[in-house]
Amino acid sequence: VEALSGSRSAAGRALVFVGFMGAGKTSAARALAAELGVAHVDSDRELETELGETIESFFDREGETAFREREQATVLRLLADPPGPVVALGGGAVGSEQVQEALRAHTVVHLEVTPDDAWHRASGRGRPLARDRRRFEELHAERAGLYARLAHATIPPGARDAIRRTLPALQALTEAPAGTRLVWAAADSGEYPVFIGRGLIAAGFFHPLAGRRFIVSDEHVARHQRVEGEEQILIMPGEEHKTIHGAEFVLRRLAQAEAERGDLVVAVGGGVVGDLAGFCAAVYQRGMRHVQVPTSLVAQVDSAYGGKTGVDLPEGKNYAGVYHQPAAVLCDPDALDTLPPEELSAGYVEVVKTALIAGGPLWAKVRQGGDVDTEIILGCLRTKLATVAEDERDAGRRQVLNLGHTVGHAIESATQYARYRHGEAVGIGLLAALRLSGRDALRGEVGELLAGRGLPLTFSGADVDEVLALVQRDKKREAGRVPFVLVEAPGEVTPGHEIDSAALRAAVEEAAA
Ligand SMILES: NC(=O)c1ccc[n+]([C@@H]2O[C@H](COP(=O)([O-])OP(=O)(O)OC[C@H]3O[C@@H](n4cnc5c(N)ncnc54)[C@H](O)[C@@H]3O)[C@@H](O)[C@H]2O)c1
Repeated sequence: VEALSGSRSAAGRALVFVGFMGAGKTSAARALAAELGVAHVDSDRELETELGETIESFFDREGETAFREREQATVLRLLADPPGPVVALGGGAVGSEQVQEALRAHTVVHLEVTPDDAWHRASGRGRPLARDRRRFEELHAERAGLYARLAHATIPPGARDAIRRTLPALQALTEAPAGTRLVWAAADSGEYPVFIGRGLIAAGFFHPLAGRRFIVSDEHVARHQRVEGEEQILIMPGEEHKTIHGAEFVLRRLAQAEAERGDLVVAVGGGVVGDLAGFCAAVYQRGMRHVQVPTSLVAQVDSAYGGKTGVDLPEGKNYAGVYHQPAAVLCDPDALDTLPPEELSAGYVEVVKTALIAGGPLWAKVRQGGDVDTEIILGCLRTKLATVAEDERDAGRRQVLNLGHTVGHAIESATQYARYRHGEAVGIGLLAALRLSGRDALRGEVGELLAGRGLPLTFSGADVDEVLALVQRDKKREAGRVPFVLVEAPGEVTPGHEIDSAALRAAVEEAAA
């Protein structure tokens, strides 16, 4: 609380709420100000005082251009010297480049509202831009990218209660290295902040602060990435250690160190450490909190979010596990600097997969083939979080995340998990899925992206019949059918397709070198 209210008096930095009409910026600002015991200001109310009439009547008489001019002047004045540490901005004010520039001096919080909710809350109140639903939805889509780009934090709408739940994380954000972003993750069983920013680990940033930290990592990662804690529990690196025995080792170390339910397990590593440590946190004394600090690309774009934890059995990968959402994810792209290049390439497949699911600006950026930067990781994690929010337990929508995985898993398994990394096998599976989708041009484009990272486009070391048999045994099969995830176009990926066996055989034959 002091950090937030104090930071303004020191640097004139305010918390500025932005978001679409109906997101509840005014209520959120009022609620936050009440929590902090400080003043708040609302640019729309300020403007109405200056105009001496309502925004609607000025807008209807003078038109949008005249209105935006007056709005810009008021907002720039407020941002240059905020009268209180909490400011709510009118939804369209951020369209001005000068306002965007002025926002750099503040902590910008985006209240993210769906077009549906926004319409229900904003229409029928005489607001000039909330009279025609189609235009309203177009405007929502146009502005979404702008808000996402400007925001340091994205949190859900909802006044006092939402502010109370997110306040500790917003406060932590003010102490994180410059440029850190906060995304709020929500699923049926829990919600948590995701912090993403370069230098989080080196700066010793941590959240949440309550509880002792029991660090679980592997021996490769621990050599390069260090997070301080009560205890360092190191497992051997590699999928072959993501087992019940590995879990027993970690659980016993926690017990010997007298970890308690109020403490935290902190997973510092790739997906293996994340899945194993998350599983241990879920079962240790019937459940303690855990924080994910993903250090591989796979973990940063995919495995650290969504709460799936578990270990492998000799009979099958991830066969023993439980859903357990983390208390926070701290994602530091600098950690990737020490990741071996072949692991970076394997993770790149998950980036391409996620970008295909997302479509839009993320696919537009990824298809250019450049390096994976913080923006791309952020786009991927937002896509994963949005998918999990819709369907935490894999009953429907979440299955799109298995794009490329049905054939990929079969290849991994047919080659005894020894020949291909998970990502490499999924890359080959992704190409098969695009063939089954009948998207040949897109398949060619994805093939080039993968080849550019030195990734295999075909498999060897197993025969086609073996892979086909394993596809049939896929653990995701329902009532004897293997549902496939198919791609209509980037951004239009759907699960649950039945595939005829001749087409499947042809796709797997093509995937075999
Ligand atoms: N829970 C989920 O939703 C989910 C999703 C996808 C994958 N997974 C799981 O994730 C695992 C694969 O994850 P992965 O690819 O990260 O494998 P991994 O954890 O084995 O990491 C790959 C290798 O990179 C090393 N490493 C990681 N970060 C490093 C760093 N910063 N510097 C140096 N070395 C580093 C590790 O020691 C390891 O040798 C699989 O077990 C898979 O089942 C889980």
